[in-house]
Amino acid sequence: MSIAVLLESALLSCQPAEKCTLSIEAQQMCAQTPANALQRDECAVIKDFRFAGHPVKPELVSPDKVISRKFTTAEGYAALLHAVCHIEFNAINLALDAAYRFRLLPEEFTRDWVRIAAEEAHHFQLMRQRLQTLGYDYGDFSAHNHLWDMAYKTAFDPLLRMALVPRVLEARGLDVTPGMRAKIAQKGDDATCAVLDIIYHDEVGHVQVGNYWYQYLCRLRGLEPLALFRRLLSRYDLFIFRGYVNIDAREQAGFSRFELEMLENFEQNRQSDIHNWRLALQN
Ligand SMILES: [Fe+2]
Repeated sequence: MSIAVLLESALLSCQPAEKCTLSIEAQQMCAQTPANALQRDECAVIKDFRFAGHPVKPELVSPDKVISRKFTTAEGYAALLHAVCHIEFNAINLALDAAYRFRLLPEEFTRDWVRIAAEEAHHFQLMRQRLQTLGYDYGDFSAHNHLWDMAYKTAFDPLLRMALVPRVLEARGLDVTPGMRAKIAQKGDDATCAVLDIIYHDEVGHVQVGNYWYQYLCRLRGLEPLALFRRLLSRYDLFIFRGYVNIDAREQAGFSRFELEMLENFEQNRQSDIHNWRLALQN
């Protein structure tokens, strides 16, 4: 079986356990195949689909309809762990899709994203176990599909995908995780903290891979990375910083201090522009 066929099966699988097993098999296939010998079926037709394989539950709803994730109630805490589980489930599909779809890029790109898919599968399995110890399971709460929606919108261009998924959406996880971990530690749930530590460590590496290939594709196309990134943030109406910014983790993940300062400045200007437009519209 080629890696391309295996990735397609994993991506379209609707069973979480099967998707994890197939992702780990794909990583093993990569490990056992010598460099430049992966069968990526470069000439095959790549399927276009609105949704990757996912189970019937969790029910997908708009972000404002998701149950609130409170630390103070047992159900709210389970909903929080479920939300992390769902992010990890989507992250498996995102990584599989990058490896499956953008197969004309260097083989290292495929290997990087297959490895990430296997790591995301591991994260999902670990967090699902934590949820099960609370008496719940993946699918017990509703969830939103924001992460996969961005994958769908960027399916036609790997540069766009690298810019907006790892560098924007996944990088936000680096900002959010330390605060969440601190609250969970206060609750005394050390086992969940240990899972979050694994996730956090690996996610720095995932954002780093996204940064590497974003820079690579910009160089290939003769584009200036920072100027292009600012244009894309405006065009897609995205903000990269929300509240606390984890400068250290972002630097480890390949953002330079200069780039982070420029982006912070750019976002402040955009926010004041938006504020001024609203005021002008009201008058
Ligand atoms: Fe993850």
